[in-house]
Amino acid sequence: MADFKGKNVIITGASRGIGFALAQAFAAEGANLSLCATREEALKEAAEKLAQYGVKIYTQVVNIAQAEACESFVQNTVKELGTLDILVNNAGITKDNLTVRMSEKDWSDVLDVNLTGTFLMAKAALKVMFKKRCGSIVNLTSVVGQMGNPGQANYVASKAGVIGLTKTLAKEFGGRNVRVNAVAPGFVQTAMTDALPEDVKAKALEAIALKRFATTQDIAKAVLFLAGDDASYITGHVLAVNGGLYM
Ligand SMILES: NC(=O)c1ccc[n+]([C@@H]2O[C@H](COP(=O)([O-])OP(=O)(O)OC[C@H]3O[C@@H](n4cnc5c(N)ncnc54)[C@H](O)[C@@H]3O)[C@@H](O)[C@H]2O)c1
Repeated sequence: MADFKGKNVIITGASRGIGFALAQAFAAEGANLSLCATREEALKEAAEKLAQYGVKIYTQVVNIAQAEACESFVQNTVKELGTLDILVNNAGITKDNLTVRMSEKDWSDVLDVNLTGTFLMAKAALKVMFKKRCGSIVNLTSVVGQMGNPGQANYVASKAGVIGLTKTLAKEFGGRNVRVNAVAPGFVQTAMTDALPEDVKAKALEAIALKRFATTQDIAKAVLFLAGDDASYITGHVLAVNGGLYM
C-alpha cells in the first residue's frame, strides 16, 4: 500500500456511501481529509465518525455544480491543511427516466453535478497541483458509462463524459507530474442498490461473474491504488471494479 501519511485528500460527496468509505480508507492510512457534501448535518456526523483516526479533517458544504464554490473549497482546503495532494471526484446523482419522459431539467441537473462538477473541481485543484508539479486525481465514473443503460440517458452521458474528461486531463497535465484516472464501479451495495426490487437484484447478480455486489471497501481499495504511488506510472486509465459484469 502506498504511503498516505500526511497527504491531503479532497473527497467530494463524502457524507455517505462510497465517499464516506473512501474517507475512512484514506484516514486509516493517515491521510488528512477535506470533505464536502450538500448537507451540513450529514457532513458533521461523518466528521464525528472519522475523528477516531486522529487525522486533520476539514469540511465544507459545497455544490460542485458551482464554480465559485469549488474554487473556495480548494482554497480553504489549502489554507486549513497546508496543501492539496489528491482529489477524488466522487459526488454524483441520478434522476432516472426513459428518454422520452426525461425533462430537460433532469438532464441538465445530472450533467451539471456529475460532469460539470467533476470538471470544476478538477480545474480548481489542478491550479494547485500544476504549480507544485505533483498531484493525483481519481474520478468516479460507472460501468454504465461504458456499456449504456436504459432509463439513464443523463447519468450514462455524464459518466461517459467523465471518462473522456479523465483521459484529456491526463494528457494535459502528465507533463506536470499530475496523474488523472477513473474508477468505474458496477453495482455497489449502498442505500441506492438496497432499494432495488428483489427480482432486479437477482437479475443483476446473474450477470455479475463474482455473483455479488461490490462493497464500498472494494471500490475504496481501487481508488486508493490509483490515487497513490503504487500507480506511479498509470494515468488516463479507467479501472473497472464491476465483478466481471462488463469486460
Ligand atoms: N452506488 C453504486 O452502485 C454506484 C455504481 C457506480 C458508480 N457510482 C458512483 O459513485 C459515486 C458515489 O455514489 P454513492 O452511491 O456512494 O452516492 P450517494 O448518493 O450515497 O452519495 C452521494 C454523495 O454526493 C453528495 N452530492 C450530491 N450532489 C452533490 C453536489 N451537487 N455537490 C456536492 N456533493 C454532492 C451527497 O451529499 C453525498 O454525500 C457517484 O459518482 C456514483 O455515480 C455508484
